[in-house]
Amino acid sequence: MNLLNIAILAAGKGTRMHSDKPKVLHELAGKPLVQHVLDSAMSLQPTQICVVYGHGGEAVPQAMQHYGAKFVIQEPQLGTGHAVLQAMPHFVDNSRTLVLYGDVPLIQHNTLHQMQQAGGGLTLLTVRLNNPTGYGRIVRNRQGDVQCIVEEKDATPEQRNIKEVNTGIMLAPTSKLRSWLGKLGNNNAQGEYYLTDIVAMAVKQGLTVHTVQPAHHWEVEGINSKVQLANLERIWQQTIANRMLAQGVTIYDPARIDVRGNLVCGRDVEIDVGCIFEGEVTLGDRVRVGAYSVISTATIAQDTQIAPFSHINDSEVGANCHIGPYARLRPGSKLHDDAHVGNFVEIKNSEIGRGSKANHLSYIGDSTVGSRVNIGAGTITCNYDGANKFRTIIEDDVFIGSDTQLVAPVTVGKGATIGAGSTITKDTPPGELTLSRSKQMTIAGWKRPQKGKK
Ligand code: UD1
Ligand code: MG
Repeated sequence: MNLLNIAILAAGKGTRMHSDKPKVLHELAGKPLVQHVLDSAMSLQPTQICVVYGHGGEAVPQAMQHYGAKFVIQEPQLGTGHAVLQAMPHFVDNSRTLVLYGDVPLIQHNTLHQMQQAGGGLTLLTVRLNNPTGYGRIVRNRQGDVQCIVEEKDATPEQRNIKEVNTGIMLAPTSKLRSWLGKLGNNNAQGEYYLTDIVAMAVKQGLTVHTVQPAHHWEVEGINSKVQLANLERIWQQTIANRMLAQGVTIYDPARIDVRGNLVCGRDVEIDVGCIFEGEVTLGDRVRVGAYSVISTATIAQDTQIAPFSHINDSEVGANCHIGPYARLRPGSKLHDDAHVGNFVEIKNSEIGRGSKANHLSYIGDSTVGSRVNIGAGTITCNYDGANKFRTIIEDDVFIGSDTQLVAPVTVGKGATIGAGSTITKDTPPGELTLSRSKQMTIAGWKRPQKGKK
């Protein structure tokens, strides 16, 4: 019985989110809740995953179609037992079935693996809570064996004192589960088909009911409101920050960093407050990231310094570069080692060669810039004619004077100098000074206009 099916329940309306978006598509750490669950589910290498979604939730299968899971609609929603029943036609008998929840995002592989190791029979994931209000209680006999789960609304006052509660996550033999689900009734306080009623059925048939506890409480926290979502986001970010601190990353304030993806850091990396990392980001040894920088899908090589308020998106940065403050690297930017990109400089779809500098107020788009080039303040590559984009080539050792416009397509030859204030529309020869501004003149005796008298 090594085959595993996973049912992910995600049909709940999420009324308390006060949103038009299905609850399980709200994001935690930049990823939809249900996608966190799908990723943990996938890590168990199951035979089949089936997501049970609700009326109006068509966006869920659309957003998650790349997982190759089955999606079934549950309409109407008659309870958790009824929800799992919708998934059963997709599951083969000689297997086990794991029930997860689309709004319990942070369940971890290790905890689920522990459930798989607990033995045959039925395995429940339970936790002890000081305040168990609202949860189904785990009822045990004097020997400590699980007898049943009783929902809060159906519980006696003594049962309500039980602190061990049902997280909802359980693992059951598929054929047995199928027969138990077929026998569920809805004669209870909520008039629902309770998944939890299968526990008493298992006990009646003499099956062992195992219980496993999650490694962390946050693994079983469910999301019903924006407040719960915000709280769990903070817990998760703190967990990520703690992991990085443990690996030796310096984080100036672990309460003020957001990792919405996967951040890989070398040795002696330092991250100042308020930074956001999205997608896959790699920071090499000794990289320093200044305050309030946003870095998405990027590789930053060793010893590079990123000054505050820099934005880097879909770019590659070499070693020992200086970026910012207030620099912006847009998709397709590649900086070679020792490059400098300073304040209010925007680079897009361009390569900046080794040791080249654009330090002030420039736009470099669709360009190839060679090595040791100096780009003066206010230089603009005019890459767009309103319909098409063109490339600018700036060869090695070029010096571009301040406030130059390079009207693409154009090439500035190796070692050329461009005089400040030029508009360059034709290729310029290597090694020569080219400039295109009018000569300076003085108009002798010129007087400023005076205000006219009324
Ligand atoms: C359920 C458990 C309870 C447990 C608690 C943990 C039952 C009967 N009770 O209670 O023992 O302590 O979870 O949070 O199982 N869902 C569907 N379709 C439905 C009903 C629910 O997909 O018809 C989904 C919901 O979207 C949600 C999950 O199942 O993700 C749990 O449903 P909910 O109504 O919140 O269960 P509780 O009453 O809290
Ligand atoms: Mg309910």
